[in-house]
Amino acid sequence: MISDNTPHDDYDNSSKMYDVLLNPFLSTIRNAFVDWAILNQPKRVLDVGCGTGKQLSLLPKNMEAVGIDLSDAMLAQAEQQAKGKCHQADAINIPFDDNSFDLILSQFALHECVESDQFGSFDLNK
Ligand SMILES: C[S@@+](CC[C@H](N)C(=O)[O-])C[C@H]1O[C@@H](n2cnc3c(N)ncnc32)[C@H](O)[C@@H]1O
Repeated sequence: MISDNTPHDDYDNSSKMYDVLLNPFLSTIRNAFVDWAILNQPKRVLDVGCGTGKQLSLLPKNMEAVGIDLSDAMLAQAEQQAKGKCHQADAINIPFDDNSFDLILSQFALHECVESDQFGSFDLNK
């Protein structure tokens, strides 16, 4: 569980290699989500646990896409490919008003909170 506010960043060592190593496996899923988004046209999208911002960077430019993540290291990568879209925040305390988004996605992040079940307490009204 990362959201214990300790200074340790679990992604410090892997953030620079994350996309290089995982994109070959994840690109099919990422592209499928882009196809879905083009079809359904959500105007405002929130990516919870956005990591390097890869998924956000692939979305059509007419969508207002925002990401949150806890990891400084992952957010540093996100700044390069999803400039200005990703911010530091905790999934269990999402800093947006209710009904701010048409769609909330969270890819490959729920497992981060298996111990405390806190990701399960997302307020999906955001
Ligand atoms: C396996 S990565 C997935 C990143 C991205 N969603 C993707 O598709 O590649 C999990 C991400 O969840 C983030 N994370 C873990 N716990 C979090 C929390 N409580 N709030 C926000 N982000 C969190 C981690 O920092 C990490 O970037």
